[in-house]
Amino acid sequence: MNRVIDNHGRPISYLRLAVTDRCNLRCFYCMPEEGIKYVPKPHLLTWEEMERTIRILVNMGVDKVRLTGGEPFVRRGIMDFLEELNKIDGLRQINITTNGVLTAPLIPEFQRLGIKSVNLSLDTLDRQRFFDITRRDEFQNVWQTFEALQEYNIPTKLNSVVMSGKNTDDIIPMAELTRTHNVSVRFIEEMPFNGDGAHEYQEFWNYRKILEELKKTYPGIYKLPDPPASTSYNYQIPGHKGTIGIIAAFSRTFCGTCNRLRITPQGQFKTCLYDDGVFNIKDLLRQGLDDASVTERIYEALQHRAKDGFEAEAQRTVGLVSESMSTIGG
Ligand code: GTP
Ligand code: 5AD
Ligand code: SF4
Repeated sequence: MNRVIDNHGRPISYLRLAVTDRCNLRCFYCMPEEGIKYVPKPHLLTWEEMERTIRILVNMGVDKVRLTGGEPFVRRGIMDFLEELNKIDGLRQINITTNGVLTAPLIPEFQRLGIKSVNLSLDTLDRQRFFDITRRDEFQNVWQTFEALQEYNIPTKLNSVVMSGKNTDDIIPMAELTRTHNVSVRFIEEMPFNGDGAHEYQEFWNYRKILEELKKTYPGIYKLPDPPASTSYNYQIPGHKGTIGIIAAFSRTFCGTCNRLRITPQGQFKTCLYDDGVFNIKDLLRQGLDDASVTERIYEALQHRAKDGFEAEAQRTVGLVSESMSTIGG
């Protein structure tokens, strides 16, 4: 396999493609209450442009694609798109990150569509707190999605952003889910990608503090080996079926093995979550460039990656990080 290696020796194998910036929730850590100004449709990559881009990247050694958003299932045509992706030779893994509001009825189709795993955003198990965080009363639908994922044996990770003053009381109940469920519960440091910029924190829950909290209730919690290029430090509580992950998304401890590139709904190509975009792939495709020229442009960008998220952030030209996560895909 010819895999592109970046300027810091990191093989690039994982594309995170945000298929829409629209979302049916308004999570406090991602968007302001009034929402964000959505990108007009003509400025979005079409499904055909996304498929072509993925084929080009697969030829460059990418073998895993994660569809994100916004909420991927609010964009019409996604099920047909998944059908097309499933036909691409060399694409070993198609994964999705979803908020689970619309997802439950679609899960019986997932195995046939080759969806290897699902990461479900769920920050609390309490309906009122869910409403306070997401500003929508959709807990029951999300929970049905979780149950359907379990029923159909789809490997699942639950993503919980840990926010001071919001859901730190949920850490233990969420961790308890791993006792009886074969699921990975992942606690994520909050990042300032919320459409607004950094808020004042009562205190910041970094990965060390999250682990300390878990150790108070589960002193026997032990470290598991982390898969290559993992975003999470992984743990297990003795006797539990599932596992726990802690993602130092703000502390950025995993940049040294970063194998990811990102494409936003409008086609901005990003070589780090914290950069402000390197070029626009939609523009290249619409200018009529052939695959070889697009490949060349991507290769070039991958030879100029920042070494980590701090360097990428420092090199931004549009100011401090404040864009909504739904415009980047996480
Ligand atoms: P797997 O493919 O299952 O390993 O998932 P993932 O952790 O790559 O993806 P997911 O969409 O579940 O993201 C979980 C959290 O990790 C989100 O808050 C992401 O924003 C964060 N995350 C993912 N990739 C990166 C990254 O490259 N840098 C940083 N700082 N955070 C990331
Ligand atoms: N900080 C950390 N994680 C975030 N996510 C969304 N916004 C933020 C933020 N500001 C997470 C969601 C989703 C994943 C793609 O990104 O929990 O699961
Ligand atoms: Fe929507 Fe996900 Fe952002 Fe929440 S985190 S508003 S579910 S895109």
